[in-house]
Amino acid sequence: MQGLLLHGYKEMNSAGFLFLKIQDARRCGQWLRELLPALTTAATRPREEVHQQESCLNLALTWEGLKALGLERAALETFPFEFRKGMSERARVLGDTGSSAPEHWEFGGTQRDGRSQRELHLLLVIYGRDEETLNALLAQHRARFAAAGLEEIYCQRTRHLKEQTELAGRPYTFLREHFGFRDSLSQPSIEGFRDAAGAPPSYDPAPLKAGEFILGYENEYGERPPSPSVSASQDPAGWLGESWEEEGRKDLGRHGTYLVLRKLQQDVSAFNDFVEQHRALAARHTPDPEKQAEWLKSRMIGRWPDGAPLKPGEAEQPAQPPVTEHGISNAFDFRADPHGFGCPLTSHTRRANPRDSLPPERALSLMISRRHRILRRGIPYGPRYDADREGQERGLVFVSLNANIARQFEFIQQSWMNNEKAGGLYDERDPVTSSVESGRLTLPERPLRLCLTGLQHFVTMKGGGYFFLPSVRALHFLAELAPQPPSQPA
Ligand code: HEM
Repeated sequence: MQGLLLHGYKEMNSAGFLFLKIQDARRCGQWLRELLPALTTAATRPREEVHQQESCLNLALTWEGLKALGLERAALETFPFEFRKGMSERARVLGDTGSSAPEHWEFGGTQRDGRSQRELHLLLVIYGRDEETLNALLAQHRARFAAAGLEEIYCQRTRHLKEQTELAGRPYTFLREHFGFRDSLSQPSIEGFRDAAGAPPSYDPAPLKAGEFILGYENEYGERPPSPSVSASQDPAGWLGESWEEEGRKDLGRHGTYLVLRKLQQDVSAFNDFVEQHRALAARHTPDPEKQAEWLKSRMIGRWPDGAPLKPGEAEQPAQPPVTEHGISNAFDFRADPHGFGCPLTSHTRRANPRDSLPPERALSLMISRRHRILRRGIPYGPRYDADREGQERGLVFVSLNANIARQFEFIQQSWMNNEKAGGLYDERDPVTSSVESGRLTLPERPLRLCLTGLQHFVTMKGGGYFFLPSVRALHFLAELAPQPPSQPA
């Protein structure tokens, strides 16, 4: 299994996301065979080793990429519908409209500049412990593209906004995103997977079934997720195991998963200005203008900037969020806040994961939430926000891993984040990420609720795609698809 960011995600400071087009399947196959030994796998390693690793490398393919590499038609048809369509064709489902529509994307969209979804074949993810390591690795890989029949379509460099601290006497790293919030705090734990860094306690202590994130394993429905397959005759070398779905076929998906990538530009000035203009809404909670702004921002996101959960009646961020040696505790639910007096029902995080608060009752809500979790591996791009040096672009390369794009990532985006009637309200969408102008956010308060109106477009979709992250064995199989060059006489 490829270990995309499972281990060592926080240890790496910089990453390059290289989007490539296959021009020659035969030469690309050769390149792939040579690349395979360098790929980072998910093999469990001791914490010390993870802390010391200098780089990570992973490779994923779009449906167009599998086609360009020569995968037979019948096998291509075994991939799920939304993956075959690709992200840009799912724009309506995802709410990518207006300036976030695929015709404006920088890559992977419907634009006619050679970087559209059809030209996006491979995604090479290169992580480096620091900028120098990343630069060297990028140069090394780029030097081989021409001979490998590969064209670089787009490259997005990213860099963690890190915060080093100490928890229980051990060094600990927090990650921030550009609006100023600690990110990557709520992550699912996965059955059978030992997180080298240890996971903080969660509101839902039972780990999720591995089949929510890895093909070939049982999922939260007690079933194995559908898996792409090839006819047995296509795999004479025997790289793939038998398909469990159909006799005479081999399982191409086992130990693989799907990767969703979205480049999301963040307009931090607009976000801050908007909050500044509306902070008086918080005046009844605190007289301090800075704290008012912090209060309002936090209602939009659904957590305090340092990661503490929002509780009813709390006017200020607690001095210290609830921490354990493994990070900020994620062991909170909404039992004590059913109406959203603390964390608004339609804030970003409560929409993205309602935890125990969906009607009609708690246990059912927890079960539903378990079926729509994603493993988030986003990394910011662009410089830290500095009001005096504006005009620079920044944002988040949002990466989500899941075994079922439609049921996990797309469901969250469509049925929770962009649901206009979420929480029994009307005409509201995610207050942070929605691409609809003039949105609003209801802030439940006693005796009367408040309404934050005129929300702007703070996040713009700039490009992305749906990728298949195959197992290492499946990559061996794919590398051998194209006819081999004739061997040279000695
Ligand atoms: C620029 C865009 C985005 C920003 C700035 C952002 C920011 C945040 C922040 C600050 C948190 C709280 C930290 C945490 O719980 O880990 C969070 C949580 C979360 N976000 Fe986002 N996010 C963005 C886009 C998205 C998108 C596109 C999705 C999925 C479709 C998403 C899904 C989630 C989920 C599932 C959580 C965890 C909620 C929980 O379990 O409590 N986010 N986000």
